Amino acid sequence: MFLISNAKDFVGEEVAVRGWLYNKRSKGKIIFYIIRDGSGYIQAVAVSGEAPDSAFELYDKLGLESSVIVKGIVRDEPRAPGGYELTLTDIEPVHISKDYPITKKEHGVAFLMEHRHLWLRSKKQRAILRIRNILEKAIVDFFYENDFVRIDTPILTATTAEGTSNLFATDYFDLGKAFLAQTGQLYLESAIFAYGLVYNFGPTFRAEKSKTRRHLTEFWMIEAEEAFFDNDDNIALQERFISYLVRRVLDECADELKILERDISLLEKIAPPFPKITYDEAIELLHKKNFKIEWGDDIGGDEETAISAEFEKPVFVMNYPRKIKAFYMKEHSERPELVKCADLLAPEGYGEIIGSSQREDDYDKLLQQIRNFGLPENAYSWYLDLRKYGSVPHSGFGMGLERTLAWITGIPHVREAIPFPRMLYRIYP
Ligand code: 4AD
Ligand code: MG
Repeated sequence: MFLISNAKDFVGEEVAVRGWLYNKRSKGKIIFYIIRDGSGYIQAVAVSGEAPDSAFELYDKLGLESSVIVKGIVRDEPRAPGGYELTLTDIEPVHISKDYPITKKEHGVAFLMEHRHLWLRSKKQRAILRIRNILEKAIVDFFYENDFVRIDTPILTATTAEGTSNLFATDYFDLGKAFLAQTGQLYLESAIFAYGLVYNFGPTFRAEKSKTRRHLTEFWMIEAEEAFFDNDDNIALQERFISYLVRRVLDECADELKILERDISLLEKIAPPFPKITYDEAIELLHKKNFKIEWGDDIGGDEETAISAEFEKPVFVMNYPRKIKAFYMKEHSERPELVKCADLLAPEGYGEIIGSSQREDDYDKLLQQIRNFGLPENAYSWYLDLRKYGSVPHSGFGMGLERTLAWITGIPHVREAIPFPRMLYRIYP
């Protein structure tokens, strides 16, 4: 089957493009139909007297986004986008589209979101989600190449790990409430005892009433968990991982980055090591920048933007106060008011893209934490078991796919980084 992306292999041959009319122009005796087939765009040229009459008769009838089968001879054309064009020999409508709602004029975001099912066809949206596709492949490749085993963790869960205020709950037969997964981490922690190095990659749910450019209620997270890794080993792995992903996108998505007008010189700088500061230093830095934040407060979105503005690469903020982090994080050996963790903030104000920590591996301390957080002990007895039978130091991290993609593509909001975003005020389409 012919695909526009493979045009180079068909120069001089007659091919059939099956796709949609992206644009049309006429200039005297010549008509240009620009067709897209999902793999790319190609211009088909019809010259009066050479091309069949149907090509001219259809010109006014074919609305944008009509589906068509266009036949033509593939020609080298350095001036054409993509480098090839078609000398049209036949055009056959499959379905005629009239008054396609998304036009070349500017539309507001609300209108576009309401028409997300059609907006997906637009050039920039297609570029963003094609990069997402490569990013997803690169994520899986990285872990495969580094001897990690993929563990698909459950979406319906009885335990929670990232706080109880942002859970989507549903009735689960006679067994009470089930929650949509906020994280697969606790299950990955079980799996390290079977495989050593593991990861998952799947949809994640947070009923967060946050209306920011960084929050979705359904997002995709990749999480890794590593036996015998301490916080520093975990950080080193994340540096390699992020750098690898950026490199793959630069190598495989040059056309898409160009469509998005991304300044790739900023991405070229992403290589280990990344800067690292402690939570204490972050608070100091924020004070210098006149933020009214006190030691012990969580670092919010605006603060993250201010911190990342100081660095060209992603920056790790390490060792947060215990009371603002999750129950499973390991106590800092010299300062028990802190935990061994690191949040990775993306450059250019994109905020936190990774949350990571070393895990509490001591049975008694973990039990105490479960109690301190007021969590139901019996629901966590399986998790505590992991500290009873061959407990080991271990660490892990979780990366938000949409935030990472928003940063790499340079788009302002995560809502365009997923095909059908779910947000506080959006579940349609
Ligand atoms: O920092 P978080 O909450 O960490 C965890 O869930 C850990 N259990 C991960 C682990 O150690 N295995 O979430 C991890 C990342 C964030 O850094 C962010 O990129 C993304 O998930 N994220 C969101 N992305 C979009 N919308 C939201 N509402 C998000 N909440 C978290
Ligand atoms: Mg976090």
